[in-house]
Amino acid sequence: MPDLYQELSKLADSDMYPFHMPGHKRNVESTPMKGAFRCDITEIDDFDNLHDAKGILLDAQQRANKIYGADETFFLINGSTCGVLSALSAAVTEGGTVVASRGSHRSFYNAVYLRHLNVRFLPYKQDTKYGIPETYTANDIEEMISDEVEAVFITSPTYEGKCSDIREIADLCHKNGIPLIVDAAHGAHFGLESPCDEDISLEFNSLPESAIKQGADLVIHSLHKTLPSMTQTALLHVQGNLVDRKKLKRFLSIYQTSSPSYVLMASMDLCIKEMEDKGNDYVKRLLNYRNRIQQSTSGCKYFEVPGVKEIPDAAKVMIYVKNAFMTGQELYDILREEYKLQLEMAGDKYVLAIISGWDSKEGIERLIAAINSIDKRVEEKASALNREGKTKLTENSCADERVRITPIPEKAMAMNTAWDSELESIELKAAYGRISGGFINLYPPGIPLILPGERFSEGLIEDIAKYLENGLNIQGVVNRKEVLCVRQK
Ligand SMILES: Cc1ncc(COP(=O)(O)O)c(C=O)c1O
Repeated sequence: MPDLYQELSKLADSDMYPFHMPGHKRNVESTPMKGAFRCDITEIDDFDNLHDAKGILLDAQQRANKIYGADETFFLINGSTCGVLSALSAAVTEGGTVVASRGSHRSFYNAVYLRHLNVRFLPYKQDTKYGIPETYTANDIEEMISDEVEAVFITSPTYEGKCSDIREIADLCHKNGIPLIVDAAHGAHFGLESPCDEDISLEFNSLPESAIKQGADLVIHSLHKTLPSMTQTALLHVQGNLVDRKKLKRFLSIYQTSSPSYVLMASMDLCIKEMEDKGNDYVKRLLNYRNRIQQSTSGCKYFEVPGVKEIPDAAKVMIYVKNAFMTGQELYDILREEYKLQLEMAGDKYVLAIISGWDSKEGIERLIAAINSIDKRVEEKASALNREGKTKLTENSCADERVRITPIPEKAMAMNTAWDSELESIELKAAYGRISGGFINLYPPGIPLILPGERFSEGLIEDIAKYLENGLNIQGVVNRKEVLCVRQK
């Protein structure tokens, strides 16, 4: 059997193009660190200590801090995951209450479990056209804030590239004397110098403002998702005085490894230096690629690439299937199998590509050519069917309302009590009224339909059964028919 390295080498030598993270795109030209093993050490003499940085690592973290402009910035070598855990643990007391969106990443739920937090969930809003999570306004949040609430936790940008107005949410939080935590794992490129050069008329002429500039107290960035830095590398930024820095550092030491990889940290430092010295070029390339894709696919009849109004993050290229002739998964498979283009993910009616300033022109042109060629193929097929009078392609259905709000199940027990209870697997159809012992998620977008401690309602059971019947990707249903419940005494 081939080992992992052999498999990775095979992929690297193949013609498969990476339209997915990390931001360096396996492009060796993006780094001078071609022989990583030469640098693979952990804390030895002269190399400082991540958990109490005073020398070379403090300098590197300060360099990162300078380009983002928070009060303090910390390197994370366990990804944004440990940033989310540390931020929530420091900002909310054990057993305390936090307002959050249902679409939060798994690390948020793990923090809730570990710190026994009480969550006041914002109504789960979904854009009905594309079927992706919507953003939040200060109005949505205002009514959820009361004396017990110790922090607000928002994901912006979302995985798909939508952005909440962080400034107005931060203002609201600060009026109430509580910190705003922004999971901006997908937004490390935001706020870097945006070159609105000659062609300001182009659709994507800048990147959205960073959550730090907009006043969030704690911001988490995965460098590896959209910038040229190795997988697992991320940053946690803090500003203002609403979060106890000593506590934050304590939790970082708890959740981060005691053997931080210097290869990863050097990769972060190089990424930051590149953004410091040539960030403009990086952003310019990204915006140019994005505009090129936008312009060169605008003639497609069967596909739509939503623009800056719908998806402001230039790094996220959604290819929406306008007609019901093809699912997102089918398009994803065609791009992968026939065009050797590996995309980030497939939704029900779309596929998502991540682009960066380190994509190659050739890669971008291959994506454009593939979309146009598939569009032409569909047109030929549609004309043939039409001539034979057989059928007409129908528009993908889109509900009348633009945003759908999904009810959140009733909480019957604390999440950690339920998760730690004795559990039993029971038939989904017999679960009415029972308390869930696990998560059930519908992918994409991966939002939990039910959490441990929440009660199964009749409506939810019907929905899950329907999703299963339609062959959708549901996680947390054993053998596609049983669910985990807290054992009844
Ligand atoms: C919104 C969000 N937050 C946090 C994370 C965790 O990031 P990391 O993989 O850097 O730990 C992810 C990962 O996909 C994410 O999508």
